[in-house]
Amino acid sequence: MTVLSHPVQPILARTRQQLLPVLGAAIDRLDGPLRLMCGYQLGLLELDGSATGRLDGKLLRPAFTLLCADATGARSADVLPAAAAVELLHNACLVHDDVMDGDLLRRHRPTVWAHFGTGEAILAGDALIGLAFEVLAEHEHPAARAALRQLAVTLRLLGHGQERDLRASAKSEVSVADCLATFAGKTGSLFGCACRFGALYGPSGAEAERFDRFGTELGIAFQLADDLLDIWGDTAVTGKPASDLRTRRKSAPVVYAMAASPELRDRYAADTEFDEAATARVIALIEGTGARAWTEGEAGARTRAAWQEIDGLPLDPVARGELSQLAAAILDAG
Ligand code: IPE
Ligand code: IPE
Ligand code: MG
Ligand code: MG
Ligand code: MG
Repeated sequence: MTVLSHPVQPILARTRQQLLPVLGAAIDRLDGPLRLMCGYQLGLLELDGSATGRLDGKLLRPAFTLLCADATGARSADVLPAAAAVELLHNACLVHDDVMDGDLLRRHRPTVWAHFGTGEAILAGDALIGLAFEVLAEHEHPAARAALRQLAVTLRLLGHGQERDLRASAKSEVSVADCLATFAGKTGSLFGCACRFGALYGPSGAEAERFDRFGTELGIAFQLADDLLDIWGDTAVTGKPASDLRTRRKSAPVVYAMAASPELRDRYAADTEFDEAATARVIALIEGTGARAWTEGEAGARTRAAWQEIDGLPLDPVARGELSQLAAAILDAG
């Protein structure tokens, strides 16, 4: 089952409804090609500049922010700008990630760089980062200063993670521990920030650290699931290409499998392109090592570890139930 057909749909639909006007207003601060590119990335605009009335993406991170706020007794109105900032930063990272990964498709549409060019996409990502900080800074709240600092820290950690990811492609050997540390940076940091913000804007701001660790573990679980989708997922559902093998990325299943399969190591080291037959062989080698089951198991373990981080906290029972549904759904978040 994918998130698109999952019982968490009402949670995500609610998040979409709340964020649509806030993100629309953020994009309206821009003009010219930057407005078009950023609006297009968010799904708000078509390439001809017309409004879609839509917001694309699953909106998992802001949904976590809003649910963590509900769970800790923060008011939605107080935390909404923080949820919007998280989604803006996420989109900035996607625009830059697609440049780095050379991917042509995102959310069923051409990537920003593929349509507008690399230089333009770098600037669009930068503009989205700027907007994330603006939206957060302009909302007066006692938590705003701590939140701004955390958004900056998150951007730094995410950059470290993405850089480790780039470097891993060039290294012949990457350990599982290395790979998980990369995931903590490139994906865990923003999920951590999203959950931290929920707590930070509520009466239990003191528990923000624990919510950050909760989100970080969930983010690692999510990246493990995303790496599975990149091999066994369906582009018609995910809206993005399964390109990790073709571009020899050291995704989690590959890292695990490489330790057990000399043939996989050799194939990854050779500089011949993977055609259809070679890709099928590589997938069979990965499956043969039990890497798929290992990755699923590790994602489940990370989700359980996440809950231990906030164990014993007095949370609103309805919000806790929804949080638990959403945390389970990200394991098959196509
Ligand atoms: C994609 O994130 C980037 C990863 C960390 C794997 P999402 O799968 O949450 O992207 P959207 O926003 O739903 O498109
Ligand atoms: C990206 O990981 C994580 C980010 C910080 C954007 P991926 O490169 O696996 O994300 P997708 O698969 O392109 O969405
Ligand atoms: Mg990518
Ligand atoms: Mg990437
Ligand atoms: Mg991926």
